[in-house]
Amino acid sequence: MKNILIVGGSKGIGNAILLQQLENNKIINISRTAPEITHDNLTHFSVDISKEELPELESLDSIVYCPGTINLKPITGLSLDDFRHDFEVNVIGAIKTIQKYLPLLKKGDKPAIVLFSTVAVKLGMPYHSSVAASKAAIEGLVKSLGAELAPTIRVNAIAPTITDTTLAANILRNDRMKENMVERHPMKGYLNSEEVASMAAFLLSEQSKSMSGQIIPMDYGIVSFKI
Ligand SMILES: NC(=O)c1ccc[n+]([C@@H]2O[C@H](COP(=O)([O-])OP(=O)(O)OC[C@H]3O[C@@H](n4cnc5c(N)ncnc54)[C@H](OP(=O)(O)O)[C@@H]3O)[C@@H](O)[C@H]2O)c1
Repeated sequence: MKNILIVGGSKGIGNAILLQQLENNKIINISRTAPEITHDNLTHFSVDISKEELPELESLDSIVYCPGTINLKPITGLSLDDFRHDFEVNVIGAIKTIQKYLPLLKKGDKPAIVLFSTVAVKLGMPYHSSVAASKAAIEGLVKSLGAELAPTIRVNAIAPTITDTTLAANILRNDRMKENMVERHPMKGYLNSEEVASMAAFLLSEQSKSMSGQIIPMDYGIVSFKI
């Protein structure tokens, strides 16, 4: 049984990861609100990663960092504070978490870190400048830290396309928008949280022991194909 820290396990992809991992691991969740589920293997800390200190933990084998933003506006509609806020949630929060728990991770059992990027880093889309800039920083972090922490700690990221979560609720707010989103993807679909959680499970597991410094696209073809 491993000790896995999930930052952002109360909702969305992080919650799906929490539910998939809970039976066989000790889960420490950090988010502003608590997950709906309670379980002997689950410890929750209510923390706003942008404003508050992280709790002291006793031991840790892996970290998954989920908080993210979708603030889609033309560049002139985004203030510098919008960019700073997105960078704070997506990047500084991840760095703060990794710095805080690195000494514990180094003593962990086959430790791994899983972060989140987005397809918008590889595929230029209007109005994505803030989130794309922050997630490109995550991709840089994965490369640099993967090298720095090798061979002890593996560091990878998942770059999903649109995923049906609270974060994306506005983009998938009615049937017409959902159908349009399916049509935009060459493989005719978009992600649900459980699919992404399964990829996170793989990246946390020994099945991916050869992999570090990788950005794994889950894109239903939107970055890969022009059909
Ligand atoms: N959904 C998509 O379409 C999509 C697409 C591409 C990439 N991604 C990326 O995938 C990751 C997960 O996305 P998601 O859709 O699952 O997001 P989500 O539904 O918004 O869930 C985010 C989780 O992070 C927590 N969180 C957010 N801000 C926090 C803060 N300041 N302090 C502590 N916890 C915080 C939230 O909990 P509380 O609200 O309780 O704090 C929640 O548990 C993100 O990095 C996102 O950028 C998502």
